[in-house]
Amino acid sequence: MEDKKIKIRIEKLRKAWGEVVAVNDIDLDILEGDFLTLLGPSGCGKTTTLRAIAGLEEPTGGKIFINGNLVFSKKDEVIVAPSKRQLGLIFQSYALWPHMTVNDNIAFGLKIKKFPKEEIDVMVKAILEDVHLEGYGERYPSELSGGQQQRVAIARMLVNRPQIFLMDEPLSNLDARLRIEMRSELIQLHNRTNATTIYVTHDQEEAMTLSTRICVMCDGVIRQIGAPEEIYGKPADLFVAGFISNPQMNFFEGKVVRDGAKTSVDAGGFLVDVSSDIIGDRNEVVFAVRPEDFIISKEGAAYSVKTRLPTGSSQIAMVTCGDEKDVALMLDGEVKIASGDNIKLQIKNNKYHLFDKKTEKRIN
Ligand SMILES: Nc1ncnc2c1ncn2[C@@H]1O[C@H](COP(=O)(O)OP(=O)(O)OP(=O)(O)O)[C@@H](O)[C@H]1O
Ligand SMILES: [Mg+2]
Repeated sequence: MEDKKIKIRIEKLRKAWGEVVAVNDIDLDILEGDFLTLLGPSGCGKTTTLRAIAGLEEPTGGKIFINGNLVFSKKDEVIVAPSKRQLGLIFQSYALWPHMTVNDNIAFGLKIKKFPKEEIDVMVKAILEDVHLEGYGERYPSELSGGQQQRVAIARMLVNRPQIFLMDEPLSNLDARLRIEMRSELIQLHNRTNATTIYVTHDQEEAMTLSTRICVMCDGVIRQIGAPEEIYGKPADLFVAGFISNPQMNFFEGKVVRDGAKTSVDAGGFLVDVSSDIIGDRNEVVFAVRPEDFIISKEGAAYSVKTRLPTGSSQIAMVTCGDEKDVALMLDGEVKIASGDNIKLQIKNNKYHLFDKKTEKRIN
């Protein structure tokens, strides 16, 4: 990864509309072959960042380099036109030409580039197969469902074989099954072409599935950049921990207990030994455990099961311990539990996370 080329570099990128700061001085490098996902809640600045890279939005400040070339700099008054940035785009609102058939919509860019007609026909046919729209070439966009239109938009982008793909929630209009199929298509496409991709979604599962790296944003700033397993395994702060969790991460008030040379954290009925180095002089920490990181047993039952939400292969259970707030568990569907059961909770393989109470940053 270290010796990979930087395809896109963003320095201190800022976009504000009056008081609204959509993107707040972010720095980000996108490497060759990256499938980098901008992930974050609605309104956190994902689309604005992508549009700035594409040249569709003029930033308030900062610099953008694509393939080593400066394409935007506020200070140097450089603004390269979108069409000169050699990017393939697909946006949340994908405008297809309504007066053109599917075939013509897809062929549009190729015609402009003056590809021979026979070659265009072959390419369009192949790409329609890739997005499972064989036989739809002669239809008009108004004769397609939202999901089918979205797939035409994807095909139109793919057929031009851009070096860099920018995709803003391209699967949002698809039903659950098709979304999974298209995710798999996108992964295969990325494996085949190794094209640098920036992908925007607010869906953590989609980001985890597709990305080589995830960039988690909140309120116009980047909270963490890393491989999916890093973001999941070692969330950098409380926001990332809470956002990358389904159901909600369990957060407990943790009291630090010092007994001779031993330091422990007492939280939610759990007592775990921790290194005094990471605790420092703190007396309180936030202790967090993912719903899927509990083991349950019947002995020493301190928690009682309030509700059980089976989903087939798995089940979510909400459990309580006295007046403490509910704890969410994600269990295998075959685990036998029912409302009213009393159970004991243990944490799997020390999979807990510790955060500073004030800064909300990870400490373990
Ligand atoms: N043209 C505009 N004028 C004023 N404010 C805007 C404009 N476009 C976006 N914003 C604001 O900038 C912020 C970031 O918007 P953006 O579209 O980048 O969010 P997003 O992360 O893509 O969200 P979503 O997941 O809902 O698409 C929001 O608060 C939004 O209201
Ligand atoms: Mg958006």
